[in-house]
Amino acid sequence: MNSRVYALANQKGGVGKTTTAINMAACVAEAGTPVLLIDLDPQANATTGLGFRPDQLELSTYDLLHGSALDDVVVETGVPNLHLAPSHPDLAAAQVELAAGDTLLRDLLAGIGDRYPYVFVDCPPSLGLLTVNALSAANRLIVPVQCEYYALEGLAQLLQSVELVRTRLNPRLGVTGVLLTMYDARTHLARDVASEVREHFGPLVFDTVVPRSIRLAEAPSHGVPITRYDSRSAGADAYYRVALEVVERG
Ligand SMILES: Nc1ncnc2c1ncn2[C@@H]1O[C@H](COP(=O)(O)OP(=O)(O)O)[C@@H](O)[C@H]1O
Ligand SMILES: [Mg+2]
Repeated sequence: MNSRVYALANQKGGVGKTTTAINMAACVAEAGTPVLLIDLDPQANATTGLGFRPDQLELSTYDLLHGSALDDVVVETGVPNLHLAPSHPDLAAAQVELAAGDTLLRDLLAGIGDRYPYVFVDCPPSLGLLTVNALSAANRLIVPVQCEYYALEGLAQLLQSVELVRTRLNPRLGVTGVLLTMYDARTHLARDVASEVREHFGPLVFDTVVPRSIRLAEAPSHGVPITRYDSRSAGADAYYRVALEVVERG
């Protein structure tokens, strides 16, 4: 398996993990590369954001973690080349059923061969066993950070967990970058937070900053990524540029 497997993680909720997962995956897929988006959050926002209703799907990532074949779980989306392993609220049970240190997702992805050169795993807002499973399966990590007060809070703990996963379970895990999201150029706060994060993480922070954009917030209610909802919006432009940076960072 030579796929690039990206975990999108930050134990804080509402920082832009799912928005980034959907739209970055869509941008790479729109360029013609097969992409697999794995929704590993019981809230299933990536699933509904791509137009699916979890209760109308037969199988989900819950079943995936309980032995179902990837091919049986994955569904096609409205975007060519973008494939989704959907989530279901049942996945919440996996948080307690999973054993510490197991690497179910990694074992599963080991079997996908070269079918999906890019895999994005949308994590739940916690450092629980689902996120640890994602970090064990991934070889790359992207950390979305909302340009709000307390942005840096929790990041030390996140990176500590990453270090732990690296030493105990997955030495191949690297940090691809930190992504500033929901940036509102009109506020001093956003600018201050952005420069604080850059000071702290240096070149690890992507050059591209995702602006606060109504269009990005609206797209999920239409069940499509920003590339299909409003491809000429500032939000689409930002995610195209981030996707390019992600691809270039190798
Ligand atoms: N750049 C943005 N501009 C405006 N709204 C955004 C932006 N990014 C995310 N949102 C909105 O903020 C909320 C939280 O984002 P989400 O991606 O679901 O975060 P997380 O997955 O980290 O919980 C959602 O309602 C989403 O639509
Ligand atoms: Mg989410």
